[in-house]
Amino acid sequence: MSLRKDFLWGGATAANQCEGGYDLGGRGLANVDLIPSGEDRRAVFTGKMKMFEVDQEHHYPALEGIDMYHHYLEDIRLFAEMGFKTYRMSISWSRIFPNGDEKEANEAGLAFYEKIFKECKKYNIEPLVTLSHFDIPMGLVKDYGSWRNRKVIDFYTNYCKSVFTRYKGLVKYWLTFNEINMLQHAPFLAAGLYFETGENEEQVKYQAAHHQLVASASVTKIAHEIDPENKIGCMLAGGTNYPYSCRPEDYFLAIQKDRDNYFFIDVQARGVYPNYALKKLQKDGIKVEMEPEDTLILKENTCDFVSFSYYSSRVVSANPDENEETAANIYKSIKNPYLESSDFGWQIDPLGLRASLNVLYDRYQKPLFIVENGLGAYDTPDQNGKINDDYRIEYIRKHIEAFKVAVEEDGVDLLGYTTWGCIDLLSATKGEMSKRYGFIYVDKDDEGNGTLKRSKKKSFDWYKKVIESNGELL
Ligand code: BG6
Repeated sequence: MSLRKDFLWGGATAANQCEGGYDLGGRGLANVDLIPSGEDRRAVFTGKMKMFEVDQEHHYPALEGIDMYHHYLEDIRLFAEMGFKTYRMSISWSRIFPNGDEKEANEAGLAFYEKIFKECKKYNIEPLVTLSHFDIPMGLVKDYGSWRNRKVIDFYTNYCKSVFTRYKGLVKYWLTFNEINMLQHAPFLAAGLYFETGENEEQVKYQAAHHQLVASASVTKIAHEIDPENKIGCMLAGGTNYPYSCRPEDYFLAIQKDRDNYFFIDVQARGVYPNYALKKLQKDGIKVEMEPEDTLILKENTCDFVSFSYYSSRVVSANPDENEETAANIYKSIKNPYLESSDFGWQIDPLGLRASLNVLYDRYQKPLFIVENGLGAYDTPDQNGKINDDYRIEYIRKHIEAFKVAVEEDGVDLLGYTTWGCIDLLSATKGEMSKRYGFIYVDKDDEGNGTLKRSKKKSFDWYKKVIESNGELL
């Protein structure tokens, strides 16, 4: 078995990291707009430091992004030139419902994405749309406490219903929440959650997670009712946990750490809370409020496919002395001595991608989709202004080889592959431009200076050939 003929090759972005135009077309502010770059970023995105308004002391890079709001025609044309079969992007929720709790959708916002989807269709690019890539309108954060409040399920449902209806026939592939398990690690960034002093954070997080899981199942039902052609995916921040040693304690800890992540996907793909999660919640004294109808909603509306991001595997140890961490990742991991690291300390493990594909396929037996993978690196133009990013080509080549083996030798059913940040955009962890992933360079620096001019890197032509040959020419 080789890659499908209709394998969905492409690239991925998210509104909050590239779109900009934060105050145009009636858009409201979102949590992701209020996360500054610099020293306070981590405190804000983990919900420890409350940031409800734009202030003068901080730089808020998401307000402008790479201004795709005004450049989307050019950007999609470049994606088409590379031969993209799909383009993963997200809708900014607060562009459609500026405060979040309005009854009617904002027409200017709906019209904006309609133009984008039509432009994609012009080039036969299938949009793959994330409904919430970490974002929620600030109105829902301020007035309702974000996902901790059950009412937010209805606001999200209303938003999704509007876009499913408006884009019927234009969009078929949807993801309900980007990296849903990130809520555990960066609660404000991923779900608009912040904490008051003394609050039981785990209680808040699991309650919010329950609301997202019910919301995800509810909109899956609605999407199928509106258009039976719709395919709805869940989305995991992937990467298997390896035990640091063959000590049984390390191995068991790795199982537990994996479960903290799989919990979300277990519910979305299998439709029930797994026993291990129910027992853990009970043991930790966490009481998740559920409505009687939730069980059936979850059971009857599981996702159609399982998507995930993969940058690296992770390592855990039960021994607190073994704690040399990898640098700068939101999700903590011990450094793996057998792997090389990127400029930013993220470790590189292509075989780990094959492992993840196998684990996920064995566990869920649903089609899989790799919706993020790539190398964040410093790119320096040569004397002619060209970026010769052989390191990026090397990284992506090895990961493509790994997923091809998973398909060809292990029999995994894989729908497609979208590399992260196919055009340079803001980094989620750092909020900076200098951590670049793209095939397309964007002239902008960490302070926000630059012409925003787009230019092709060496990897641009390489990826084009990969797509043309359906992954044969690497
Ligand atoms: C994923 C997110 O966690 O990783 C993206 O879905 C993010 O939004 C990507 O950008 C890479 O992380 P970073 O910090 O290098 O941008």
